[in-house]
Amino acid sequence: MFREGHIPNVFVFCLEDWLGTVIISVATCTGRIDKSYPTVCGHTGPVLDIDWCPHNDQVIASGSEDCTVMVWQIPENGLTLSLTEPVVILEGHSKRVGIVAWHPTARNVLLSAGCDNAVIIWNVGTGEALITLDDMHSDMIYNVSWNRNGSLICTASKDKKVRVIDPRKQEIVAEKEKAHEGARPMRAIFLADGNVFTTGFSRMSERQLALWNPKNMQEPIALHEMDTSNGVLLPFYDPDTSIIYLCGKGDSSIRYFEITDESPYVHYLNTFSSKEPQRGMGYMPKRGLDVNKCEIARFFKLHERKCEPIIMTVPRKSDLFQDDLYPDTAGPEASLEAEEWFEGKNADPLLISLKHGYVPGKNRDLKVVKKNLLDNKPAVNKKGGLIGPAKGMADGVGAMQNEAKLDEILKEIKSIKDTICNQDERISKLEQQMAKIAA
Ligand SMILES: *[C@@H]1O[C@H](CO)[C@@H](O)[C@H](O)[C@H]1NC(C)=O
Ligand SMILES: *[C@@H]1O[C@H](CO)[C@@H](O)[C@H](O)[C@H]1NC(C)=O
Repeated sequence: MFREGHIPNVFVFCLEDWLGTVIISVATCTGRIDKSYPTVCGHTGPVLDIDWCPHNDQVIASGSEDCTVMVWQIPENGLTLSLTEPVVILEGHSKRVGIVAWHPTARNVLLSAGCDNAVIIWNVGTGEALITLDDMHSDMIYNVSWNRNGSLICTASKDKKVRVIDPRKQEIVAEKEKAHEGARPMRAIFLADGNVFTTGFSRMSERQLALWNPKNMQEPIALHEMDTSNGVLLPFYDPDTSIIYLCGKGDSSIRYFEITDESPYVHYLNTFSSKEPQRGMGYMPKRGLDVNKCEIARFFKLHERKCEPIIMTVPRKSDLFQDDLYPDTAGPEASLEAEEWFEGKNADPLLISLKHGYVPGKNRDLKVVKKNLLDNKPAVNKKGGLIGPAKGMADGVGAMQNEAKLDEILKEIKSIKDTICNQDERISKLEQQMAKIAA
């Protein structure tokens, strides 16, 4: 049902490379992580976070220690060669960028958060930073989450505060100090009903979960103590069934809970256990699940050198489509254009039925049209050429010479980058051949 190259068959993650740099690796989701597999390498520093675009199965965004955000278009049939040219480079952070998160319903709207404690919201279609929130967080931001219709964000920060922010009004609408009292990292995510779910640590270093209503953050709706362990609990949320899966870093289990409207609000369901601890975890979008097998969640557990799918199913006798397991879910169509969202519109996700499985449509290419920005610094397009305001005669020969010079340098950089990527691949291939001969 799925063509190669779509989310179900391609898994992207950040992994420490053997040369000491971190690159984005792309692999088919079952196999070993193979050094010779093509990579996405364009950042000049380690990649710290990536996010798949919810509106285009071929597009990912990455944030890096090199202070930039890059957006990539993975070719339709997966990567056959390493990808070195991002569709767009977004520059605006002064320190490393640890978080990237696409807007859930507006096309081409991307949020990034960096160690400069700033949140920037970009229009990827024009490459512009349209909203910068740089005076709201006094310490590192651990986690950012959009609400269901993308009107608000919530953040968890090292200053122990959870904030609910209206990004377009540039206003904090609610906040809770010491949402969890412990010093270790917190996570905060928005639920579909507008409540905020957090994980963190108590003063005694017990792991905690809590549920908050942004209209009254004084007291949590529910607070649970779990156990004593160092691993940050990473929440993965399914808004259709109100289930939260908690994967502890370094744990070998996934615990899941149902969020209910009445007490106990956070209702423990079950634990999935395995042997080996998880270094990281990826979560498949709902539309990628196999409804014929009554699959309700699929995770990708990252090991040292391999990535293992974890498939959760609900045993059912009937072969019929199980409506109760699959309420309509967010589809790949954006509800709004970036401009509409920046002008103040909100819209819920456009839902699709999974009754006949999800058949990916044709993804459009992500187009970036740089606006005529006020500064006359020429922008670089993905071909390494220059785009920018059409040059009139008045610009003079000097500018044109500079431009030509710059063009030349950029071309050279690109060719060096390509060479490095190709060499990288060659070395890996040779290593593999050596290993085969040795075996
Ligand atoms: C917030 O944390 C959750 C759980 O770790 C993760 O799935 C999500 O991607 C994080 N969001 C961002 C923007 O980092
Ligand atoms: C978007 O969500 C906010 C917060 O839950 C809500 O107040 C608002 O009415 C929603 N807007 C639309 C258009 O659904």
